[in-house]
Amino acid sequence: MVEDFIRVLDIIKKRRSIRKYKDIPIPWDKIQNILQAGQYAPNAGNLQDTKFIVVTDRGTIHNIAKACISQVWIETAPVVIVILGIPERTMQYYGEAGSKYVIENAAAAAENMLIQATAEGLGSCWVSAFDEFMLRTALRMPERALPQIVVTLGYADEEVPVPPRTVLESMVFLQRYANRMRNPNVTLWNWSLQMEEFAQDAKVGAKRYARILKEKIKDKFGDKGEKK
Ligand SMILES: Cc1cc2nc3c(=O)[nH]c(=O)nc-3n(C[C@H](O)[C@H](O)[C@H](O)COP(=O)(O)O)c2cc1C
Repeated sequence: MVEDFIRVLDIIKKRRSIRKYKDIPIPWDKIQNILQAGQYAPNAGNLQDTKFIVVTDRGTIHNIAKACISQVWIETAPVVIVILGIPERTMQYYGEAGSKYVIENAAAAAENMLIQATAEGLGSCWVSAFDEFMLRTALRMPERALPQIVVTLGYADEEVPVPPRTVLESMVFLQRYANRMRNPNVTLWNWSLQMEEFAQDAKVGAKRYARILKEKIKDKFGDKGEKK
C-alpha cells in the first residue's frame, strides 16, 4: 500500500505542462484510460455534471487554439479534450453553491486526467485562458453547457525543467491559520525522513572536515608527507 502511494506521488511530481507535441497519434486505449480517470474523480453529490469532448479533427483543434487567445502551440496536440459542466441539476440540488461545485468537479476531473496522462507516458497541459463564446462556437455547445478547461494531450516534444515551487513550510499551517511548522519532519513525527536529513548533513560535514584536515596535513608535512 505504501508502495502505491509512493508511485502516485512520483507521477504527480513527474507531470509537467507540455506545450510542444510530436506528430504521433495517441492509441485509443490511452485516451480511454484518461477519460476514465476523469470519470472517477470526486464530484459534488455524485451528480456527475461533467462532460468531455474529445477532439482530434485538425480544423476544430485550430479553432480551439484560436479561442484559447491564440495559443498556437495547442495546434501541435494530436488530441484535445474540452471539459465542460452542465450546471442545471447541480444548481437544483445545491442552489447558488452549485455554480462553485460545477467548476470544482471539472477541476478534479482535469487533474485526474493529467496524472493519468503522465502515467500513460503522455505530455499534457491544462488551459483555462479562452474566449468562452469562441470555444462554444468551435464545438457547437448549447448555452446550458459551460466550458471549463481545455486539456491538450500528446507525446512530449520538449523537456521542461520543474518550475520552482515554494518550500512546503511556506504553504502549510498547523492547527490554525498562519501557524507555521518550523520542521515538518519533527512536527509530523516523520523520523525516518528526519534521520535521513541528519545523515545527509553529517555526510556533508564529514566531507568538509576531511578536506580541511587534508589541507592542514599538506601544510604541515608537504605533498610527500615529510615534516616541514
Ligand atoms: C487554472 C489553470 C489555468 C491554466 N491556464 C493555462 C493556459 O491558458 N495556458 C498555458 O499554457 N498553461 C496554463 N496553465 C498551466 C500552468 O501554466 C502550469 O501548470 C504552471 O506554470 C506550473 O507548471 P507545471 O504544470 O509544469 O507544474 C494553467 C493551469 C491552471 C491550473
